[in-house]
Amino acid sequence: MNITIVGTGYVGLVTGTTLAELGNSVYCVDIDEKKVEAMKLGKVPIYEPNLEEMFLRNIQAQRLFFTTNLKESLEKSDVIYLALPTPPGEDGSADLSYVLKVANDIGEMMTSYKVIVNKSTVPVGTADKVRATIAAKTSVEFDVVSNPEFLREGFAVEDSMNPSRVVVGSSSEKAKGFMSKVYQPFTNIGIPIIFMDEKSSELTKYASNSFLAVKITFMNEIANYCEKVGADVDKVRLGMGSDDRIGNRFLFPGIGYGGSCFPKDVKALIKSGKQENFDFQILEATENVNISQKVILVSEIENYFGGNLRGKKIALWGLAFKANTDDIREASSLDNIKLLLEKGAEITAYDAIAEENVKKILGDKISYASDMYSALENADCLLIATEWSEFKNPNFKLMAEKLKNKAIFDGRNMFPLELPEQNGFFYKSIGRRT
Ligand code: UGA
Repeated sequence: MNITIVGTGYVGLVTGTTLAELGNSVYCVDIDEKKVEAMKLGKVPIYEPNLEEMFLRNIQAQRLFFTTNLKESLEKSDVIYLALPTPPGEDGSADLSYVLKVANDIGEMMTSYKVIVNKSTVPVGTADKVRATIAAKTSVEFDVVSNPEFLREGFAVEDSMNPSRVVVGSSSEKAKGFMSKVYQPFTNIGIPIIFMDEKSSELTKYASNSFLAVKITFMNEIANYCEKVGADVDKVRLGMGSDDRIGNRFLFPGIGYGGSCFPKDVKALIKSGKQENFDFQILEATENVNISQKVILVSEIENYFGGNLRGKKIALWGLAFKANTDDIREASSLDNIKLLLEKGAEITAYDAIAEENVKKILGDKISYASDMYSALENADCLLIATEWSEFKNPNFKLMAEKLKNKAIFDGRNMFPLELPEQNGFFYKSIGRRT
């Protein structure tokens, strides 16, 4: 099939590359000329494991194209995916201006039947708004479908080539036929396509992300309580996760959830609820707990140093909101940096992948180290904010030589308790004995 993807951000690029890999001809449209030119030359604009290989393979096979020309791409395609940003507005609700602007353009340009597929995370009722916007501009037949994306950053290729399910919201049999054809390669290998109405599909995305945010936050509270009563959250997690009604994934406590999705989607669902006079009490609690969880280790560091952090040098391992991504949106590292700086501490951070993105917003407010050990040079303690695998098995002897105090504050429970302790470290992690 011929497919157009409008928007080559994270979701658009991965979706486009995946659909090309499944054998379609895919036209990726973006308004950013520089980015389009770079992609034509084979430059992937984001960091994502295994994406580059698939991206280059499909460009070479002439299945993946990049352009700024929406009209030309529309003419060639039957199915048009919208993968546009829906940033939170001032009040937390999703800003639909990008989506509706493109809907308007499509309405003005289309000359034959199209299936417009919304991949962006959008509030319930957006398909209706997109439909009305297009219909105001054209009398040509079209359908609007909701097809939310569930991929995780860092596992985008794996998740998009082997999704747990594909959710398609459509009230049109004709559009369902097109979508079944697009996803035929998935149905062939047993991946379920779940058809439903547009509104339920739109809500499925928010409900899934919010549920996972609640799950993590619940575990964070259990972890905090473990510390009060002398239980070990690792054991509790294993005990709980073995019940397959609970499941063992997304039960890892830490310094809160971040990224471009969970915080935004939890806020947006709360806001959408309010518009219907509905209080999502569980989500409001989740959001509040997460805000304090993100900086829970700062007070531990403060206590360790007798209540005063002025002039203390803190080494920080990890800046990305999680491992395997350069994304720092809503990263816990940033909340920790902000609070530590306010308290007068100095920070030397190390993150091989996300450093550049942090430099763009923090500049020289903090120092940057070229490797994990040099970040420790003369530091008073170490704080770990991202679970990069290079931190998993460190040389504790070398760490002890570099650090002024043998103290590790670990927001990701990276080590078995005995390891740092055997090497003489004070080791504070989340929900486990200190
Ligand atoms: C999330 C969802 O997992 C995807 O299914 C969804 O498609 C995506 O949002 C989206 O809406 O686009 P992502 O934000 O890439 O994906 O990251 P996750 O792997 O879900 O992690 C989110 C946050 O939760 C991270 O800060 C991570 O460190 C934290 N987390 C995750 C925990 O603290 N504990 C866990 O057990 C799991």
